[in-house]
Amino acid sequence: MAKRELVLGLAGLGTVGSGLARILHDRAAAIEARTGRAVRIKTILVRDPAKPRPVEIPGASIVTDASALIDDPEIDVVVELIGGTTAAYDLVHAALSAGKHVVTANKALLAERGVPLFRLAGEKGLHLAHEASVAGGIPIIETLKESLAANRIEKIMGILNGTANYILTRMTEAGLGFDAALAEAQARGYAEADPTLDVEGGDTAHKLVLLIRLAFGRSYPMARLPVWGVSQVSPMDIAHAAEFGYTIKLIAQAREVGGKIEAGVYPALIPAHYLLASVNGSFNAVRIEGDAVGQVMLYGRGAGDMPTGSAVAADVMAIARGRAANNTGFVTQDLPEADILDLDEAVSCHYLRFLVPDRTGVLRDLSGVMADHGISLEQVVQKKWDGPGVQLVFFTHECPAGAVHAAMRAIEAQRDLTLAPIMHYRIL
Ligand code: NAP
Ligand code: HSE
Repeated sequence: MAKRELVLGLAGLGTVGSGLARILHDRAAAIEARTGRAVRIKTILVRDPAKPRPVEIPGASIVTDASALIDDPEIDVVVELIGGTTAAYDLVHAALSAGKHVVTANKALLAERGVPLFRLAGEKGLHLAHEASVAGGIPIIETLKESLAANRIEKIMGILNGTANYILTRMTEAGLGFDAALAEAQARGYAEADPTLDVEGGDTAHKLVLLIRLAFGRSYPMARLPVWGVSQVSPMDIAHAAEFGYTIKLIAQAREVGGKIEAGVYPALIPAHYLLASVNGSFNAVRIEGDAVGQVMLYGRGAGDMPTGSAVAADVMAIARGRAANNTGFVTQDLPEADILDLDEAVSCHYLRFLVPDRTGVLRDLSGVMADHGISLEQVVQKKWDGPGVQLVFFTHECPAGAVHAAMRAIEAQRDLTLAPIMHYRIL
């Protein structure tokens, strides 16, 4: 019979660790009422024990040596909230090896080095629970693993990074510059310790790889996932998009096409009336298409102390209840590698913006290259601006992304045709 108290070793008392500690304290009675057990944080691992903390955890000792968690037989669960893929890997591996359940919010760890950890947890029948690793407080892991388990998932599409979405929202709604918007997101605790993961799409890619495992039962090598971020999104493109009824969002999508997986992370123009276009600030949303259920859409806060703490606490409570571990949603932990369909084959409309010399024939030359690549133009807009040359914006009809990439290469190879790198977005 399970003992009355569930004892935690908490690794990390930053944004998420503090949120979790607050929830476990404030909702202690409700948690016990739901699980039948009290949950206590016994030991907290940090880097700097002298740092002031936003929460107090009476009775818990602060340590800087992971062995204080691993070697303590009283600790049932190690909650890993330190981030990164090195010390966190060692900690999680050691905790599982010592027979302790693990709860983590660390998508980088699980996407890049998760396979041996899931295998070890599976062999030992332990939880390696990770609800908070994708889309913060949104219960997407549980939804795919349990609630939609009877479906063949056909497509997943969503906004999975709170920081990038916050930046795009602030640039769109308040006219903030990129750096100022990122600084705000960091101050609110949304960003990763290394924010390039947020702004260059790496964090979204980690999350998408985890969702592909759960949805399609395939492992998708991170190195093969096409990934673009938001650092190049300019106020000018945001304004042009708005003028034509679109909003720019960082999108993660994966779908099954004839047994292959087509997936990618990229900023895209979304029609302003779509639900995804009105997902703002640190909110995330995921749309899932299953063969039986049809479309399901989940929406909520994708980052921050309390939303993420909520997901971590739910994992802790599942362990307290004595639920059997179901870490990947499949009996085998060794999933086959995905057969990958090149994202360049995906067909959509496209937005292209060129800065071109203001000379006779430049429009003819550009549209000629597009025609040579089989790309038909739906709208063409020429805009004067206060810099050199003129801005030309093309909205294309549907065509494969590969044709657009080839046309862009051909245009950039002609040195007198463009004055700056071409801006390109898919239109979804
Ligand atoms: P954070 O605010 O930077 O906090 C990290 C904590 O871990 C700090 O308390 C730090 O100690 C401690 N730490 C870091 N490296 C350590 C090491 N080697 N040994 C011991 N302690 C160490 O990070 P966070 O935002 O809470 O994120 C934690 C994890 O949750 C990450 O995997 C992140 O990707 C994930 N996540 C974050 C969010 C979010 O909204 N922030 C949402 C979902 C998932 P000191 O305080 O002493 O420096
Ligand atoms: N840095 C991440 C984000 C935290 O902004 O979405 C949540 O995973």
